[in-house]
Amino acid sequence: MEPKTYFIRTYGCQMNELDTEIMAGQLEKRGLVPSSNEENADLLIFNTCSIRDLAERKVMGKLGRIGRGQKNHAIIGVTGCMAMAKKDALFRKFPHLDFVMGTNNITELGAIVDEVLYTKRPVFKTDDHFEENLDYLIAKRDNKLKAHVSIIRGCDKFCTYCVVPYTRGQEVSRPPESIVEECRRLVDAGYKEITLLGQNVNSYGKDKPEWNCFFHDLLYKIDQIPGMERIRFMTSHPIDITVELMQAVRDLPSLCEFVHFPIQAGSSRILKKMHRIYTKEQYLEKVELLRHYVPNVSLGTDIIVGFPTETEEEFLETFEVMKQIRYSIAFIYAYSPRKGTPAIRWKDDIPEEVKQDRLQRLMDLQNEIANEERQHLLGQTFEVLVERHNKDGKMLKGRTRCWKKVIFEGSEDLIGTLQQVKVHSYGHQTFIGELASPLHSLSLSCR
Ligand code: 5AD
Ligand code: SF4
Repeated sequence: MEPKTYFIRTYGCQMNELDTEIMAGQLEKRGLVPSSNEENADLLIFNTCSIRDLAERKVMGKLGRIGRGQKNHAIIGVTGCMAMAKKDALFRKFPHLDFVMGTNNITELGAIVDEVLYTKRPVFKTDDHFEENLDYLIAKRDNKLKAHVSIIRGCDKFCTYCVVPYTRGQEVSRPPESIVEECRRLVDAGYKEITLLGQNVNSYGKDKPEWNCFFHDLLYKIDQIPGMERIRFMTSHPIDITVELMQAVRDLPSLCEFVHFPIQAGSSRILKKMHRIYTKEQYLEKVELLRHYVPNVSLGTDIIVGFPTETEEEFLETFEVMKQIRYSIAFIYAYSPRKGTPAIRWKDDIPEEVKQDRLQRLMDLQNEIANEERQHLLGQTFEVLVERHNKDGKMLKGRTRCWKKVIFEGSEDLIGTLQQVKVHSYGHQTFIGELASPLHSLSLSCR
């Protein structure tokens, strides 16, 4: 029977969130409506993540439980990275699954559901290559102010710990005209902030040299769209951060002064073993160059502790680099061996308690740095995109260009606008401020 309602549970990164929005758009075009909970849905999709073991375990637990209860009426499918990593093995473990659809088959969701309905057999599609024929405009976005826009899918970097090149395949850039057109429509529909997405956005255009449009070229095109207020991008590989990109961050009015610049480790030996293709020194030089061009830039990072053979001294190099760079945001992870990656052949030799201890030490350091940064920022005025009411329903809430949360008092009609807010205190990971008078001078520092 044709399903009438759907529910998609999303795990993992922003790329998955966007894929969920695209799948929801496809289903709604077909006439399905969202179900308020997964128990009642006629079509239930788990859009999954494989980046670390914990992410997979969460889905496996969920699939096991759902299997026992819900099978009688719902079509159940697994999409996303686990579909690619586990493929048809998922059917053996969860015989109640109706389909497994890989990250490169997202255009085929409708056809896959049809096949399940008509054949009453499990359907399995996990192509290795992505054909750039996806209708992004169909995406069903709940947020009316901020949108994710995909510019490149896949990753060609092959860091030794990472499953992404295997679960998302080779890099495929999306044509610039299609990206600009989507951004233009979003701006016309009232969107104020667009985050350009890719596993490595800086590789944009390298797979299509004939377009002669690389990442910074694309940014210039998007910045020119009338009414474009804010552009962000996620995520970057340090090796591909060019001087042209740094200049774009400096020069383009809508491009936010925040760069996610994941170092992963502070020791050049570990970086080599991770196949990150830069040394600590080269990374530090690039950060210096970026700060030379954009002195007020905020930096984010990802770090893995406990990579195979990482010694205490090598860990301390990571610690020192964090102290030196002073990131605004750091995502810190314990190494998790992934099947199919080159690193799986090395023994996972750092005991869990050592990994956790290293993780904790870096988190404590990052908290200290973030506290000092906050103190330094108090009294300054920032541009805030006002997104909604705070939980208390009284204050308004938004983010600065450098991704800091701010709450302040103001009337509801400010939601959806950009305001200057002077911050005076801090609590619960959020700055508290007040609307600055129009004559108030703008803060130069984002950090
Ligand atoms: N173990 C731990 N962390 C990982 N990441 C990627 N693969 C692994 C892994 N096997 C982290 C990296 C990456 C972020 C998205 O996830 O830091 O930048
Ligand atoms: Fe994974 Fe490295 Fe590609 Fe990032 S650059 S997605 S860490 S392989």
